[in-house]
Amino acid sequence: MSLFATKPIARIMRESEAGEHQLKRTLGPVNLIALGIGAIIGAGLFALTPKAAHDNAGPAVVFSFLVAAFGCAFAGMCYSEFATMIPIAGSAYTYAYATMGELLAWIIGWDLVLEYAVGAATVSVSWSKYLVRLLQTFNITLPPDLTKSYWEGGLVNVPAIFIICLISIVLIVGIQESARLNGLIVALKVTIVVLVIGLGFSYINKANYVPFIPPNTGEFGHFGWSGVMRAAGVIFFAYIGFDAVSTAAQEARNPQRDMPIGIIGSLAVCTLLYVGFSYVLSGIVNYKDMTDTAIYEALHNIGYDWLGTGVVIGILAGYTSVILVMLLGQSRVFYSMSRDGLLPKMFSDVHPKFKTPWRCNLVFMIFVSLFSGFVPLSSLGDMTSIGTLLAFVIVCGGVMIMRRTHPNIPRPYKTPLVPLVPILGILICFAMMASLDMMTWIRLVVWLAIGLTIYFTYSRTRSHLVTDPESDHGKT
Ligand code: ALA
Repeated sequence: MSLFATKPIARIMRESEAGEHQLKRTLGPVNLIALGIGAIIGAGLFALTPKAAHDNAGPAVVFSFLVAAFGCAFAGMCYSEFATMIPIAGSAYTYAYATMGELLAWIIGWDLVLEYAVGAATVSVSWSKYLVRLLQTFNITLPPDLTKSYWEGGLVNVPAIFIICLISIVLIVGIQESARLNGLIVALKVTIVVLVIGLGFSYINKANYVPFIPPNTGEFGHFGWSGVMRAAGVIFFAYIGFDAVSTAAQEARNPQRDMPIGIIGSLAVCTLLYVGFSYVLSGIVNYKDMTDTAIYEALHNIGYDWLGTGVVIGILAGYTSVILVMLLGQSRVFYSMSRDGLLPKMFSDVHPKFKTPWRCNLVFMIFVSLFSGFVPLSSLGDMTSIGTLLAFVIVCGGVMIMRRTHPNIPRPYKTPLVPLVPILGILICFAMMASLDMMTWIRLVVWLAIGLTIYFTYSRTRSHLVTDPESDHGKT
């Protein structure tokens, strides 16, 4: 079987119809924007932004948000085209299988572990830091060795493991995420950000903006414009999740009109909030003094300490929904890969009572817990960013390939200005990848090498395209 064998779209659709219910087209533009915001605002804003300002860009982290937003906007339009052309509740993995062949599909599926599983670990570590802060206000101090990884001066991050296990169990039991709860959490997160911007604006100390772009220290990525670009790669994490909108394509009432509104709309709202938040934050807390829980210092500096507790409870709740979406996304990707024969069957075993892929959830509960407990926040965040950026690059490339190889497939939503938009998406996303540090690249290469070893030793011969070729193989 060729490495570039594609899974026929007709087959994808048929399997999807057999396996899942047809989803109802009920979502309008406002629902789609809310869905995006719910999945987007999280640790990227509340933990990685102060870190990126402190280590890489200073107040110019504001520019980093704009760079990342453009990369996401271009990639987002490409996601939308795929999402409406192959309208099953899939992901970049399914798109790649239909267009660029099994090997690239495998690479993207394997790479998505970095986006979803490692992303969930990142948020859990920040969750733990905010929990420790919250408990401190009630004079409860957890043993420091049990709230930090070895690399941060502790032993193991127990609260981070706890939240991962808790949410994994929720997923296994299959409690439906309630739309009302999601709406509440979205409102809470937006309120916190708007509150900080609104209250903090008049307390800005202009001296904190001088210099706005601190001069480069002589090392790439440490201030100056290279620092702005590295910070863009780091805080790109804050935008991850908007692709969740594209996976809802088949539930959109009018995909051609509403998908770009949903994706670009949630990106635009978040960009405005992020730029405003990072501008105000670096105006009230000097970037040199920022910590992972800078929002606390910000409220303290402007005399609103009493708000701190409420804000932190809101952040903890907001993180919970992000972790849930990520772990859910992870299990969906491995479930699909297992259904295609590329991974052992256990990843698609459905629990007889709960009807969820429980073994898959359990495996990831253990895998993600290991990352949460033993790896520091910034390393996890950078791995998530580089992995997701790689997926974006592949999706942008896929749109161009698909226009040539399958020009006649109906596309309810068409990316505008092809090939300009995908090419710009590739360039900006790749520039952000290139700005991340060497260690992050080494981890990406090692991760992909492990994945390729598994593909060539296990998956390739067990692929259902090999073991169960259908007469329509090769056609679409
Ligand atoms: N964008 C999400 C966050 O910042 C992943 O937590």
